[in-house]
Amino acid sequence: MCGIVGYVGKRDAYPILMKGLHRLEYRGYDSAGVALINSTGNLLVYKAKGKVSALEEAVKDKDLKGSIGIAHTRWATHGEPNQRNAHPHYSETEQLAIIHNGIIENYATLKQGLKQQGYTFRSDTDTEVLVQLIEYLKVKDNLDLPTAVQLALNQVVGAYAIAVLDKSCPDLIVAARKSSPLVVGLGQDEYFLASDATPIVEYTDKVIYLDDGDIALLDRKKGVRIRTLSNIEKTPEIKRLELTLSQIEKGGYDHFMLKEIFEQPDMLRICMSGRVNVELNNVTIAGFIDNKERFVNAKRIIITACGTSWHAGLIAMYAIEEFAHIPVEVEYSSEFRYRKPVINEGDVVIAISQSGETADTLAAIELAKSKGAFIFGICNVVGASIPRTAHSGCYTHVGPEIGVASTKAFTAQVTVLTMLALMIGREKGTITEEKYLSIVSELSRVPENIRSILKQNDIIKEVASHFTKVNNFIYLGRGYNFPIANEGALKLKEISYIHAEGYPAAEMKHGPIALISEQMPVVVVAPRCGTYEKIISNIQEIKARKGKVIAVVTEGDVEVSKLADYTITIPETEECVTPILSVVPLQLLAYHIAVMKGCNVDQPRNLAKSVTVE
Ligand code: G6P
Repeated sequence: MCGIVGYVGKRDAYPILMKGLHRLEYRGYDSAGVALINSTGNLLVYKAKGKVSALEEAVKDKDLKGSIGIAHTRWATHGEPNQRNAHPHYSETEQLAIIHNGIIENYATLKQGLKQQGYTFRSDTDTEVLVQLIEYLKVKDNLDLPTAVQLALNQVVGAYAIAVLDKSCPDLIVAARKSSPLVVGLGQDEYFLASDATPIVEYTDKVIYLDDGDIALLDRKKGVRIRTLSNIEKTPEIKRLELTLSQIEKGGYDHFMLKEIFEQPDMLRICMSGRVNVELNNVTIAGFIDNKERFVNAKRIIITACGTSWHAGLIAMYAIEEFAHIPVEVEYSSEFRYRKPVINEGDVVIAISQSGETADTLAAIELAKSKGAFIFGICNVVGASIPRTAHSGCYTHVGPEIGVASTKAFTAQVTVLTMLALMIGREKGTITEEKYLSIVSELSRVPENIRSILKQNDIIKEVASHFTKVNNFIYLGRGYNFPIANEGALKLKEISYIHAEGYPAAEMKHGPIALISEQMPVVVVAPRCGTYEKIISNIQEIKARKGKVIAVVTEGDVEVSKLADYTITIPETEECVTPILSVVPLQLLAYHIAVMKGCNVDQPRNLAKSVTVE
């Protein structure tokens, strides 16, 4: 949430900052702003309500010269999204400017104290309080900027990634992080700062991922130095970026979401490469092999995640319980962290997160860790906070996911979790060899099977065209495909703003059936598997009440197709693999409905890709 970019070097900062903000816009897009120190030493701040393009429009005729600057795209927490609350925020004397991602929880107390010292406030934000505090400490004790930032942060409770400019230090950006990501890019006599590596990738592949409690000094003349909140100098670990520029561009597609749906075959092949081996008849994930005793001896597995990643966790519950015979609990991270969960040493906690930065999931991990659980992280973004906090884990390796609605990351999470279930099952001897081999073979066929589903894009688009005017949708599924009903409904509501609910098909009788009428479209995920006969009865119940049925069925299906108004097919596969296929038509259905409704699918209102506040 909120995107941060910074640049200090020899080039004009403004174009670099704007390009960076566009890349980070997926993190929030309520308002945007930029601060530059120009050649005459003025600290200029420009901001605008709305997207980054609104800022660019607003500053067209302004002085944008300067080779040091910071910029921000906002997802509002404190204070409504308007120009006044947009970042950067000046300090009282306009000597300093700050951008911030996160929440300063004790801002009200700090604000009170600063008001008593005569400070006035122009915005409703917690962020302005921090910049005022930095200035207050700096002036009071005649401190340099890094020391003032350090002392101010020691008074702050909450989460932050910040960048600060000081008019009197035209070569220096001071940045710091706690529970919100920041990456520093190292160029030739130029330095970059960003919430993730996407704004940096075209300038350098050398980066430093800041740790919690790090303060970074990006100095045009002295290079980059890192110290801690307790003022101890650190030797930073320089990492090489794996990201490429083409991965973060649309590549001819209208939207990132469509690109990401269509690249699932290739990305899942990469995700499985070196892991699923049909010739050797096995599945390996290094993070599992190194810790297999933990899994094999686990009395219980707790899966914690948010949003779409939570749905992947639900599917894993079915697979792990079926093949590894270990009880699984799937928890929303936000609930888990605040109840009093019983966690025992020896419990295995699997944390799933595309971004690896979700604040609630990070907090859930910390809680479980403090109680002695072993944490296995499944993440997509390399070097993010969750993989660095977990004891072990694995990456999904599907490249950057930029569309706010998660697609390829989800299918990859389910793929990796299915592998994990197979590996535990084989180690424990709770899965038959025949079943294991059949699933390995079906996993290896996932890319070609998704490719064949994507060929129905036009059919799905046609189905979508019948539903652009409806206000509600129900999604039903059973067993492994019940979480897919939830996921399909989530996709639709996220990007088309149509109210949609996912339900286990049999539960329909206990409530949702009351909603069914000619006006109610019902998506039924009904591949041929264990509960097939049961779901046919559920469809009959819908048809008896004149509901419109859109069914996702197995190729060659006759029975459901006869009853449904529209059918979309998926290839036959092992039951535990069906969710990886059946979700794809639902991604496309949501996408086409949203596009036909004129919605911005990549940046839906009120949402952000990476939720770094709780
Ligand atoms: C946000 C995103 C979702 C994502 C969820 C969890 O709500 O819009 O797409 O599923 O966060 O994010 P994570 O990065 O932890 O998977």
